[in-house]
Amino acid sequence: MQAFRASLLRFADDSAALFEPDGLLVIGPDACGRQVVRAAGNYKALAGDFAGVGIEHLPGRILAPGFIDLHVHFPQIDVIGSPADGLLPWLENFTFPHEARFANADYAESMASVFLDELRRHGVTTALTFCTSHPASVDALLSESQRRGLRMIAGKVLQDRHSPDGVRDDTEQSLVDTEALIGRWHGRGRLGYAITPRFAPSCTEAQLRGAGELAARHGDVWIQSHVAENKDEVRWARELFPDARSYLAVYEGFGLLRERAIYAHCIHFDDDDRALMRDTGAAAAVSPTSNLFLGSGFFDYEGARRIGFRHGLASDVGGGTSFSPFHTMLAAYYVGREGQTKPGLSLQPQNLWWQHTAGAAQALGLGGVIGNLQPGCEADFLVLDPKATPLLARKTANARSLDELLFSLIVLGDDRVIERVVVDGVAWRPPYNRRQEFPR
Ligand code: GUN
Ligand code: ZN
Repeated sequence: MQAFRASLLRFADDSAALFEPDGLLVIGPDACGRQVVRAAGNYKALAGDFAGVGIEHLPGRILAPGFIDLHVHFPQIDVIGSPADGLLPWLENFTFPHEARFANADYAESMASVFLDELRRHGVTTALTFCTSHPASVDALLSESQRRGLRMIAGKVLQDRHSPDGVRDDTEQSLVDTEALIGRWHGRGRLGYAITPRFAPSCTEAQLRGAGELAARHGDVWIQSHVAENKDEVRWARELFPDARSYLAVYEGFGLLRERAIYAHCIHFDDDDRALMRDTGAAAAVSPTSNLFLGSGFFDYEGARRIGFRHGLASDVGGGTSFSPFHTMLAAYYVGREGQTKPGLSLQPQNLWWQHTAGAAQALGLGGVIGNLQPGCEADFLVLDPKATPLLARKTANARSLDELLFSLIVLGDDRVIERVVVDGVAWRPPYNRRQEFPR
């Protein structure tokens, strides 16, 4: 067992943040040998129960759940910051040509390490990830994830039309490949598979039907796609599927809306779409830096809450501009303030953080498994340094409440705050020492 004494952030079942200024976190194997949280709470109340366990004291640090990125594209690291006149030209001119490079398995393998290094540096311990249409891109990412003990979920992209040579796949073969990848990866260690139709305009009806059949046969596999991101895309989807009530309803028609189905963006929705998300148990991956960068629009937080469907936060790299959950939370705050039908919402810092941890876990159907530090949760957590930069040190020293502390981190924080990342009970520290950068 390993025990850590520091401030401790976790979440109650109702999403309220629980904060222990002087906390204790104990991790160790459960009956099945998984590294999990064995105890979490107030140091004085718990320390006596763990007298025989060496306790590492981390004064001034915060223990927090590893972040979960609900939607990210592993092959789009080098696409970040490619300016285009909206989603469709961005896909055509930057994204598809770049993804074609992943036909080369060696290249995919080298990029898998770069991608997982970036996630880790930013404190992301689980991601729901698009690969490319090449099955070897899934093998590259998940074999490297397995070596690192990560809980990673990924899928081969399905795109058998309206896609250029180099990324377009074959309808029959794409479904055969998907089922083989499910067999190879889903449930292996902590890994999971996601059936991944890119978006309805890039898939024939036969491919979507096949994807829905696979989703029915493999009920605990995830589904991931894009929906209602951009007005031109919505118009195109409606032209291609004139009989569907809405773009979202296309996916419903093929059996692709259910628990464990995560749809990125969900911007241009009406209340019937929101109710369909709620009633099917599907969840939205809200991707604010991407939506701001590509000029796609604003996720309607008020609508999501009024109707009550699941949603959590995502980077959507490379439409998104940063792997940093702090940057994503801040962008979501801006969207809440300025992107709603008036009056704007002030999303609370505790809620923003929940959307990127325990709330994202719930969206994945992994509540109580990851994204939290309650007893029984898997041992994926962060050691945060709230004094990582001079300005943060000033702000956090003056914080009078948990909201003020979390807001300081959301507004001023980045990878420098991540002092240690523990994955499956094993610690990783950034290979640089920031402490000497300024006097404390
Ligand atoms: N819609 C279809 N493909 C993509 C993609 O790669 N990124 C984003 N943001 N939207 C998409
Ligand atoms: Zn995306």
